Amino acid sequence: MSGISAHVGRRIRLYRKMKNITIEVFAGMINKSKAAVSKYENGEISIDIETSKAYKVNIGAGLLSELGEQTAKVCEPGTAVIISDSTVWPLYGKIVETSLQSAGFSTLHFVFPAGESSKNIQTYTQILNFLAENHITRTDCLVALGGGVVGDLTGFAAACYLRGVRFVQVPTTVLAAVDSSVGGKTAIDLPAGKNLAGAFCQPSLVLCDTDTLNTLPEDIFRDGCAEVIKYGVLYDETLFSELLSSGMDFDRESVICRCVQWKRDVVMEDERDTGSRMKLNLGHTIGHGVEAKSDFSVSHGQAVSIGMAIAARAAAKLGLCSEICCEQIQKILQTFRLPVRTSYSAEDLYNYTLSDKKRAGGEIHLIIPRRIGLCDIIPTPIDHLKSFIQAGL
Ligand code: NAD
Ligand code: GLY
Repeated sequence: MSGISAHVGRRIRLYRKMKNITIEVFAGMINKSKAAVSKYENGEISIDIETSKAYKVNIGAGLLSELGEQTAKVCEPGTAVIISDSTVWPLYGKIVETSLQSAGFSTLHFVFPAGESSKNIQTYTQILNFLAENHITRTDCLVALGGGVVGDLTGFAAACYLRGVRFVQVPTTVLAAVDSSVGGKTAIDLPAGKNLAGAFCQPSLVLCDTDTLNTLPEDIFRDGCAEVIKYGVLYDETLFSELLSSGMDFDRESVICRCVQWKRDVVMEDERDTGSRMKLNLGHTIGHGVEAKSDFSVSHGQAVSIGMAIAARAAAKLGLCSEICCEQIQKILQTFRLPVRTSYSAEDLYNYTLSDKKRAGGEIHLIIPRRIGLCDIIPTPIDHLKSFIQAGL
């Protein structure tokens, strides 16, 4: 651990001298404006995202039946190609199709087997061929109906087909609602690793019907909660405390709305992920190592949970956050019955993190909790990473 201790040593001394000053390695003011959020009489919440392309995220119960009407505001009625997976399509395909048709769209659908193993070049090519064979043009649009796998595949197809067509995200998992449907990251996995081919491509609309979360199996709901907790650790002490009290029984509309507001602020500040957006990677660098080493038998949410706990324990050992902060992070993860330990060695995890996208040359950006609601991005020499992981195991 001597390498990383030496690396952060100067910073720790600085932090201790300046107890009341917040130091961010990638400084940048997150825009915490609550403007650009509207609440309508039917309870629906609408959040404006102003990135290179502006769009709305609409959140509320029972919104699926409004999808056609809302889509018609951002895409003139032509053909809407609904892309979904084999679990979500039988549950929600009909209502989505009917809504789009009532608003004047003709519809087609492409359904692939559910699961991460479909997020590959083969499914991607099948989608592109399906669009071409059906003569889809730039005035038509794609609709991603499902979780993060559907959203990532559809977004990447929308980014590349005819050099870009419009698409609408209809997230149906907690993870997709609070994270993957917003911000325009799209990708597929390659044999060498997750999300290694992709594009930044913002949707034209995100419509999140919170009723769809009612059919989620409990473990998949729980997985998404790891990303919700992440927003609390990164930015929002109040959200963190509320989640600690409520456990899984939180107010879905309100919590999704607050997470999306945080994500909105981050992507508006750093759309292309070169600075503050990297914080969203909290728990992910080491988490991806756990996921890959387990051959994806450990789910994404569980892996992120383990990654956050390792980062917290290492940060506490290095004096970068208090023991209490570390305990709080582990406690909230355990309250949601998410794992905080792994049996993999530091060597195992280190080897898998070497192909992480966040690696830049000889450095990797570690996201380090400083206190609940504040984390730092610390560029760290890659050869110090193993001792950092070891410190947190
Ligand atoms: P997923 O899309 O595989 O969904 C998980 C499972 O839940 C699937 O079997 C799916 O069929 C099922 N499901 C979805 N909605 C359902 C519903 N309402 N009722 C019943 N079953 C339902 O996985 P996920 O956890 O949503 O997303 C994980 C993916 O998202 C990963 O590929 C990850 O890389 C990606 N991701 C992308 C970003 C981004 O910014 N683009 C961010 C985070 C994660
Ligand atoms: N999910 C991480 C990001 O959008 O940057």
